[in-house]
Amino acid sequence: MAQGNGLPAAWQEAFRRDAQPGRVRLADPAPERRLARLLAAWIAAGLFFLVFPGTLVGVWNLITISSRESGTSVPAPWVQAHGHAQLLGWVGAFIIGISLYMLPKLRGGRLRSPAAGWLMWALWSGAIALRWSTGIFEAGWQWAWPAAAGMELLVALLLIWQTWPPGAPARFQLRDWLIEAGFLGLLLTMLVQAQAVWPPPQAPVVPAGINNRMLHLAVWAFCYPVVWGYSAHFLPTLLGLGKPSARLACIALGLLAAGLPFPWLLPASVLAACWSLRIFHPSQRPAKVAGTDPRYPWFVRLSFVWLAVSALLGALSESPGIAGASRHAFTVGFLAGMIFSIGPRILPAFLSSRELWSARLVGVSLALLTAGCALRVGFEPLAYAGVLPSAWAVLPVSAILELAAVLLFALNIAKTLATPLPAWFFQENVKDTMTLYWYVMSYPPTRKLLIRAGLKSLERARRIPQSLTLREAAEAEGVEVQALLEPLRRFFVRRQARALRSTTAKRAGP
Ligand code: HEM
Repeated sequence: MAQGNGLPAAWQEAFRRDAQPGRVRLADPAPERRLARLLAAWIAAGLFFLVFPGTLVGVWNLITISSRESGTSVPAPWVQAHGHAQLLGWVGAFIIGISLYMLPKLRGGRLRSPAAGWLMWALWSGAIALRWSTGIFEAGWQWAWPAAAGMELLVALLLIWQTWPPGAPARFQLRDWLIEAGFLGLLLTMLVQAQAVWPPPQAPVVPAGINNRMLHLAVWAFCYPVVWGYSAHFLPTLLGLGKPSARLACIALGLLAAGLPFPWLLPASVLAACWSLRIFHPSQRPAKVAGTDPRYPWFVRLSFVWLAVSALLGALSESPGIAGASRHAFTVGFLAGMIFSIGPRILPAFLSSRELWSARLVGVSLALLTAGCALRVGFEPLAYAGVLPSAWAVLPVSAILELAAVLLFALNIAKTLATPLPAWFFQENVKDTMTLYWYVMSYPPTRKLLIRAGLKSLERARRIPQSLTLREAAEAEGVEVQALLEPLRRFFVRRQARALRSTTAKRAGP
């Protein structure tokens, strides 16, 4: 044990204090940091699948299809590899990561097992990579696809277990029922996928009939209710909308259940869902736009327009051009639109209170995405049906616009993740009465800095007592407390959040 490692008496005493029953415990930053690291891993995996296996392959597919003027000119394994990487690899990873991070908290509990959260991450990322690579290289899919489907199914089951802390249903609200309906949809999708790949197909292609069923479930039974549920949670606060109507949401959910086998009912479900969210009603309070592009609320509303377009096109016809346009109105217009607008507003705060790298890139990526999606959805049916041959020339433009949007979004979030954690307090708040544990757990680089300043015990200790103040730690080693406070203050000035710097400058005066 660390306590026995020849640590100073003050440390031993602090460990004893920590162990005392009934001791008033200060907020421990460590669990939140661990959870944020897990979320960061899901987001990083999602971004990777979005850019490389997802979008680059999608753009390649569309450019090939357009140059040959034929929707079937690209090998089916490439189309399916793209779809799987985007829908499950990117959107799935974002949804699972965010759900593990926030659902247990919203439901008044804790994630059941952070270790299982990491196992889920490894299984999910491994399964998506396995499925993608064996499909693209057309080798080993006979064993890899059933294995990947089993791994994804296991993650879907673990997701439900992880996000139901004991007693959770008693605290369920509208958003929880919608999100759980979506998780059930994910489970159904995974079961259909398992059926599609077992026994393994002769070639690395899922037969069209069952593939379309699976995509229909992934889009409408999984992604739609989950994004709708999270919208019911976030949008009233972020966009200043009124409280969602639970009665209308129930009607919309019923229409969704009926619409899964009868897609002509889906537009009615979408309209009722939009009405229940009051997405097109005037805001009752100003939107929360700090730290991001102030126009993002309009893009959120536009995403719901794309959702309605997707449902209408899907109800209209199953011809490849219209089905493709409907699918991308959903995936690019609705899903990517929502993630590109809400993600930059909420993710930095979830990821250990970071700041978004660039607010301007949010607006640019959303404008590019909208232009690309409009061209794609508008011209794909015309090109595929042979109504307007020149429409083939527009599709590569849509692909390049969407690619640019994706790259800017991914760059923005990756840079946000890679930038060192900002400090959200002023140098005068750096005090010797604060605990050593808090400094080191909240800002891990302070460990090295404090060791260099003379706290040699930190080098040996495997654990830090939670109640040991900086002053006690300094006295225990015979170090001047100022020798610790000064480098700490310099560190926190360097790391100060951009949002606080203007206040600091104002305080400093002209
Ligand atoms: C740069 C943007 C994108 C391009 C250029 C692109 C291109 C394509 C192309 C050419 C196809 C095959 C033909 C068709 O269905 O129209 C396709 C199918 C598909 N795409 Fe995309 N796509 C993009 C973004 C996305 C996104 C963001 C998602 C999901 C979040 C997505 C999900 C799918 C799915 C599920 C399929 C059907 C796969 C299958 O049949 O198994 N795509 N995409």
